[in-house]
Amino acid sequence: LLATLLLLSLAGCGSDGSTRTKDEKVVIKFSHVVAETTPKGQAALKFKELVEQKSGGKMEVQVFPSSQLFGDKEELEALQANNVQLIAPSVTKLVGFVPAFQLVDMPFLFSSDQAAYNFYDGPAGQKLMKSLEPKGMLGMAWWPNGAKHFTNSKRPLKTPADFKGLKFRTQSGGLLDAQFKALGAGSQTLAFAEVYQALQNGTVDGQENTFNNIDTQKYVEVQKYLTVSGHGRLDYVVLTNTKFWQSLTPEQQQIINEAMQEATAFERKLAEELNAKSFAKIKESGKVEVYELTETDRAAFIKALEPVYAEYTDKIGREYIEAARASQ
Ligand code: LMR
Repeated sequence: LLATLLLLSLAGCGSDGSTRTKDEKVVIKFSHVVAETTPKGQAALKFKELVEQKSGGKMEVQVFPSSQLFGDKEELEALQANNVQLIAPSVTKLVGFVPAFQLVDMPFLFSSDQAAYNFYDGPAGQKLMKSLEPKGMLGMAWWPNGAKHFTNSKRPLKTPADFKGLKFRTQSGGLLDAQFKALGAGSQTLAFAEVYQALQNGTVDGQENTFNNIDTQKYVEVQKYLTVSGHGRLDYVVLTNTKFWQSLTPEQQQIINEAMQEATAFERKLAEELNAKSFAKIKESGKVEVYELTETDRAAFIKALEPVYAEYTDKIGREYIEAARASQ
């Protein structure tokens, strides 16, 4: 009996297995790994404000930023165990569940933020989100962050040959390892919370991220060069635990859905603004040398990264890649 009770409480159900009643207070833990000042950090707080306001305080959202509660890998396990009810991982980190999420890392696939939004909001994006349901995770929204760029401590990265022998941090294995391999570089997967130190002590020479993450994590203090490449994307999918969701009343679900819709619009606008601001700040800091790839440089990278398409097109699924191409 004790085990059953424990299971039911973990699943978010009442002790008799029923769904919650309208007046029962719901506490939702939302864990993430980035700073509060980022698009994801701010949107999580906006979501909290909206849910608490719309429910008249009967629903509470507790937001835990900066890997305070769980790091990259732990937050996925915690969600599946319903120890946290909302997370918004970078989709690359879902590679172990559904390899198709690595689509965002396909080199130079999305030409703009709008192209990514078109994909996420279209039928292929919706299908991809639903593909997590058999894993007990329910996709709530796409929160795009933006394009990724390379930084490193050794030399300016202008051509594929400049990558030779360097080692880069990746968010996950798989396609990202293949990307660096195609450029003649090594790679190592590290949790986001470990990256600054790994760059500082030289465990890795470089990393790839959005302007805003580079800025808010202060990577410019431990990196010398930034290449504006926009070679891939870093976007989030907001996930909840399916059993937790099913334990909510229709009214509570509606409050969450409405708040999520508003928080999503807020996040997208903010992501564009904050990345632009962070880029300006990085340039003004004078702490890193900035190089922007020219069209000719890009063509050289596209060519060098062809092996990634050869290896990953089928692993990801042609239909997703074609849908992404059609979204430009
Ligand atoms: C990273 O690990 O670099 C990013 O996924 C962090 C984040 O959530 O933006």
